[in-house]
Amino acid sequence: MYETKVVDLYTDFDLGIEEGGRRIRSGELVAFPTETVYGLCANALMREAVSMLYAVKGRPGDNPLIVHVADRELPDRLAHVTAEAELLMEAFWPGALTIVLPKRDIIPYEVTSGLKSVALRMPDHEAALALIEEAGVPVAAPSANKSGRPSPTTAAHVLEDFRDEIPLILDGGACPFGVESTVVSLERQRPIILRPGVVTPEMIADVLGEVELSSAALSLLDEEETVLSPGMKYSHYAPKARVVMTQGEGESMARAVTAHYDAMEAAGKTCLILASEQSYAFYGSRRCVIMGNRNNPLTFCQNLYASLRLADEQGVDVVILEALPPRAEGLAYMNRALRAASFRVLRAE
Ligand code: TXA
Ligand code: MG
Repeated sequence: MYETKVVDLYTDFDLGIEEGGRRIRSGELVAFPTETVYGLCANALMREAVSMLYAVKGRPGDNPLIVHVADRELPDRLAHVTAEAELLMEAFWPGALTIVLPKRDIIPYEVTSGLKSVALRMPDHEAALALIEEAGVPVAAPSANKSGRPSPTTAAHVLEDFRDEIPLILDGGACPFGVESTVVSLERQRPIILRPGVVTPEMIADVLGEVELSSAALSLLDEEETVLSPGMKYSHYAPKARVVMTQGEGESMARAVTAHYDAMEAAGKTCLILASEQSYAFYGSRRCVIMGNRNNPLTFCQNLYASLRLADEQGVDVVILEALPPRAEGLAYMNRALRAASFRVLRAE
């Protein structure tokens, strides 16, 4: 039991980084901002610290962690870095791309849940890089949410989930992307995207010539893929409300949303629509928040998790989401939104 301290990095950057680095080295857990979502990190070379991380998060033991680094040299000591990996690091690091490679022995069993591979990422965030450098060790960091809850995009979200359970949260404001990094595996013959993010399949194919997208990106996993991509099998990102996704175009989609809303409310349920700038006027006086602009899918990524948490705060029974075309950042949005909805999809006529 701790009294969780929140350090504002805008006013106390050096102090926060120094304290964070010291705590990581001594085996404690520290929450920190990245360009994607907040992470909760532990010294990746210290088994007890990593085990504590799983326990505090309530994370299933078979879901491996991403190891974060602050330079391009360390990966060689942690993994067998292939020529393809070099190309990806050159193109996208620091950035929202996690690369899965055959691991070296230095990475403890606990970090990779016993897998022979390790996921590596260099975040593109000043505070994250400074913290990892200060710690002087690679840090294992999942998103800083209780397992199953929406990922945190502000320090307040982290505090909501871990108040008095971790010693330190570094507050760097809202995360610019709002969804987790793209995960690409280079373990097989062909590169495969296990989790889509703002680094898109097109961007990766431009560098490697080709990349496959796991069929789990937009659907439930089958058995074989579960082995490849452990994180995708869990019903993630879900608020307490029942989430429904509505698929369709323009007014017909908006009509399907209002029909579902009105039917649910008539049945005594409270609903919240996560609308777009294009559709919200159509919803009239129904309860809704604007998620973003349909022509700029990144805005949906930025606001998805915060909006799901808001739905919980308001205690609504039903959340209605709009589908986006699964292209560019829309693919990352749909990957999370479909899981939040447990794949419940209403198709507009
Ligand atoms: O943006 C991000 O990646 C954030 C920030 C904090 O960096 N971190 C994050 O971690 O999203 P987490 O633990 O919530 O998600 C890690 C994902 C999971 O889907 C996990 O299964 C996958 O990466 N993963 C980790 N190691 C793997 C491995 N060796 N093979 C396949 N997938 C792996
Ligand atoms: Mg996560």
